[in-house]
Amino acid sequence: MNRSAKARARANIALAKYWGKSDTQLNLPAVPSISITLDPLTTETSVEFSDALGRDEFSLNDQPALAAELKRASALLDRVRGEAGTGARARVQSKNFFPTASGLASSASGFAALAAAARAAAGLAYDAERTSALARQSSASAARSVYGGYVELPAGKPGDASLPARQLLPAAHMELCIVVAVTAEGRKAVGSTDGMTHTRETSPYYESWIEAAPRLANEVREGLLQRDLPRIGRAMEQSTLAMHACGLAAAPGLVYWQPATLAAFQRVRELRDQGVEVYATMDAGPHVKALCLARDAVLVSRGLSEAPGVLRTILAGPGTGVEIL
Ligand code: DP6
Repeated sequence: MNRSAKARARANIALAKYWGKSDTQLNLPAVPSISITLDPLTTETSVEFSDALGRDEFSLNDQPALAAELKRASALLDRVRGEAGTGARARVQSKNFFPTASGLASSASGFAALAAAARAAAGLAYDAERTSALARQSSASAARSVYGGYVELPAGKPGDASLPARQLLPAAHMELCIVVAVTAEGRKAVGSTDGMTHTRETSPYYESWIEAAPRLANEVREGLLQRDLPRIGRAMEQSTLAMHACGLAAAPGLVYWQPATLAAFQRVRELRDQGVEVYATMDAGPHVKALCLARDAVLVSRGLSEAPGVLRTILAGPGTGVEIL
């Protein structure tokens, strides 16, 4: 076997957060999540299966990947090899076209692009649901990046290996913008996977979070359907604060925030007090992502740039799903 393929996928930001797993083996989320797939934050990945290779090879941004990254990629490739009935090893080359040191997670776009490229290279016909379920087993947020626009990943029942995300609404449904306020350089302290396990094992608020999250996802979904930014934004802020409150109460507490995180968050509330429709969300890191109408993006970006500790801002808007190149 000697075949190659290349795919492009975009990052996404969750409006309603995924935090916690119902099945760690199959990497199934314990709560539903809803996200926007974002342009221009893209990853391109090529996969070449070759009988001449003795083991999988993985380069990330022109550097050999870390052992843990290679292991995670090989696990995905093993599933593809299983479905395609081949034992050929693969050469994987992946590049992020994010602004340098943006501090944005690349695992969602990375695993979505890898899943699509690996399936195509193995000769499997394109199937969005299977690609999404495959990406989900590597990183649940990656299941959402397979689709464009506004995307939902439902909670999974333990054992349901085939769970995919699904597109709720296309990118053109609403002219929204995400303004990322970058507050620090470098990698995050505790990755999402470890953070979730730690929260489930030690936070007294974990069950409350699992109970509250579906209602917040419903609010975000209804707000999107009605193109009601305040409704989306209020639920989005509650989702992120509830997720962080759950992590803060873990032992020891998970504190992803830096002083600049709170300064930027506060700035969003000040802008809102001044009449701008803008809302904030934070993931497993110190950056703040502000959600606003596209027409207010420059105003919001300027406001956030003035918050103490904000290094720069990045503007992104709804983008399309995975593409085979
Ligand atoms: C806070 O998808 O990175 O960004 O499935 O363990 O790889 P794994 O976790 P991951 O978690 C993302 C968590 C989040 C919220 C979200 O994107 O929904």
